[in-house]
Amino acid sequence: PASGLDIRPVTGTIGAEVRGVTLSGDLGAGTIAAIKAALVRHKVLFFRAQHSLDDAAHEAFAAHFGDPVAHPTVPVAPGSRYLLELDSKEGYAASSWHTDVTFTEAYPAASILRAITIPEAGGDTVWANCVTAYDTLPEALRPFVNGLRAVHSNDYDYAALLASTANRVASDAQADARRLFQKDVFASTIYETEHPVVRVHPVSGERALLLGHFVKRIAGLGAADSARIFAILQEHITRPENVVRWRWQPGDVAFWDNQATQHRAVADFGLQRRTLRRATIAGAVPVGIDG
Ligand code: SIN
Repeated sequence: PASGLDIRPVTGTIGAEVRGVTLSGDLGAGTIAAIKAALVRHKVLFFRAQHSLDDAAHEAFAAHFGDPVAHPTVPVAPGSRYLLELDSKEGYAASSWHTDVTFTEAYPAASILRAITIPEAGGDTVWANCVTAYDTLPEALRPFVNGLRAVHSNDYDYAALLASTANRVASDAQADARRLFQKDVFASTIYETEHPVVRVHPVSGERALLLGHFVKRIAGLGAADSARIFAILQEHITRPENVVRWRWQPGDVAFWDNQATQHRAVADFGLQRRTLRRATIAGAVPVGIDG
C-alpha cells in the first residue's frame, strides 16, 4: 500500500496489528490518513516495539489525530502535558469494562496507551467492539434499545474501582499508596451526564452500544430494572466472540476508537508492577439515532 503500513487483523471481529511504521509526531499525511481509516475499521490498532516513543513523542503522535486532553480528575503524569499514568503501585486498576471518561458530555474520541512496565505474565488488556455488539443484537430487542438513554457518572466508577483494589493483597507500601489514592478520589469532582445507549459514529455512521462501568442507571427505569438491562447488554458486548485480548510487551502501543469500543485491564498479575501512559483525544457530544 502507498502508506507502507502492513495491517493484519488479530481476530475476526476487532483489532489489527500495524507494522511498518515508527510512531512519532512527524508522520506524513498519507500515513496519518491510513491509520485513521484502519482505526475506524478495526476499532483498536496495536503497534509493537515503539521504543522511541517517549512522553513528548507520545503527545506529538496523539496531536496528529485531534486535540489531546488531560483527564478531568486525575493529575497529569509527572513530566507530561496531557498523559494519564496507570500505575499498579498507585492502586489504579482499570479492571472493569468501560469506555474512557463517558461521565463527561463530550467524552474522548480516542485513546493511545503505551506500555512502560509490564508483568512477566498477566496484565493483558481486552477490548470489545460496540458496533458488532449492536449489529448482533436480536432483532426483537433493537427497537427497545434504540430508545434508551443512560446516566453516566464517575462516582460509580470509583466505588467499583476501590472495591476491586480492596480485594488485592498488598504490602504496607502499597496500602499507603492506596490510601493516598482514595483520598484523592474522594476529593475529586463528581460528574454526571446522560447519553443515548445507541451512538451514531461521527465518521462511519455505524451504530454502537454506549454503556460501560460509568453507567449509573438507565434513564426512566428503577435501579433493579436498570441493573438487569445493563447486565444483558454488557454481557452481549463483552462475550468472547466480540473481543480482542492483547498480551503487552514494553514499548507496545494500543490506539482505540473510544466511540466504538469498551476495554478493561485483566487484574491477574498480583503484586507485580504494571505501568502504562495514556493520551486521550478530545471528542464530540454523542449523537443518537434521532439526532
Ligand atoms: C485504560 O482503561 O485506559 C487502561 C487499561 C489498562 O490499564 O489496561
